[in-house]
Amino acid sequence: MNSLDKNILDQYDYARDPVLQEHLAPYDRACLHDMMAYGRGINRFGLRFVAHQNRVAKDGANLLRALGYSDKAAHNFRAAMLFHDIGKMNAVYDPQIWTLPDRPTAEQKALQKKHAALGADMWADHASTIAELNAHPHFAVRYAVTKYHHERVDGTGPEKLNAEDLPVFVQVSCIVDAYDGDRIKRPHQPKRRTPSEALKRMAGIDDTQTKSEQKYIGAFDPDLLKRYTEMKQNEPDYS
Ligand SMILES: [Fe+2]
Ligand SMILES: [Fe+2]
Repeated sequence: MNSLDKNILDQYDYARDPVLQEHLAPYDRACLHDMMAYGRGINRFGLRFVAHQNRVAKDGANLLRALGYSDKAAHNFRAAMLFHDIGKMNAVYDPQIWTLPDRPTAEQKALQKKHAALGADMWADHASTIAELNAHPHFAVRYAVTKYHHERVDGTGPEKLNAEDLPVFVQVSCIVDAYDGDRIKRPHQPKRRTPSEALKRMAGIDDTQTKSEQKYIGAFDPDLLKRYTEMKQNEPDYS
């Protein structure tokens, strides 16, 4: 992971790259369609699934711009993040696991957590017979945000990577994904967290946190989280 070039997001243009347009864009369109349809007739999870991926892709691209990354880099990141949760529609899952009426059991939670690694495997499968795609920097970006978007800089994520192993754009994927996840109202919560509540919780400075809610203490790079917080505070619906 550490071997990923710092400028990897500037090495190509997803919208114009011939290899990506031939070997990935058609797959992406089909994949988006499958994601929208996921859970149709069961729980319609696909609509929320795609909406979440859209929000975090946009948010992450905006944070990268705020950090001084180019527009091209931000667009390339967005094209990768739009599919970061692809593993949630892996065949091992019953779609209902994503819309449980109560808190997941330990077993359900462990299975849910596998979606990042399963998603990365799905990308690896897709690229396995296409050498040009496999060697393309966008494939490395996409694989990284899919597999590592639940990592924590203190090494407590599923793959136990820490700050030194996680490039900035992957750390961005972790922050925007955690924020959006915390803003989604869960059945066991009386109300949805406000943006400021979610950000305080992510920074580990919310006094009202119960022990089980202290999961973000040490999880994110403080400077990166500060930049993200400033960005969110400037949004019109911030409260
Ligand atoms: Fe995820
Ligand atoms: Fe996600």
